[in-house]
Amino acid sequence: MFRAAAVALFGLCFVVNANAQSLPSPSTWKNQRGSVLTIETVDPAGTFKGKFTNSAPGFRCQGKPYDASGRATGSNLFFVVTFTECNTVTRWRGRLSANRIPTTWSLRYVDAQTGAFRSLNGSDAFDRVP
Ligand code: BTN
Repeated sequence: MFRAAAVALFGLCFVVNANAQSLPSPSTWKNQRGSVLTIETVDPAGTFKGKFTNSAPGFRCQGKPYDASGRATGSNLFFVVTFTECNTVTRWRGRLSANRIPTTWSLRYVDAQTGAFRSLNGSDAFDRVP
């Protein structure tokens, strides 16, 4: 009984892992706002580094490449960008699926009136640029 369960669990892990996709490096990704993420390095643990250039209408700090760093675990990934001159930090979380990474993001900033931390949340879908 225990042996059958162990074999079934192993099989399930194998199937899940077979569906996991790794993040290609180097690669370039563009979201629906026109912003571009480039992946420059991915180490064996899935830690990656690259650049993020914001082009989203309605946001500041546009047109300049900022350091992006994150981690991919199987198909799941997150990455973080500090927009130094804007005093904001955004974290994206998503799942790599073929040539698309649908994400949700949270932008953290300090309220100029009160000094309190605030968040702005949204979603971005990144498509791989050939
Ligand atoms: C800022 O305005 O404080 C800095 C730039 C923030 C850009 C945000 S991050 C989430 C969203 N997706 C983008 O591609 N750009 C905006």
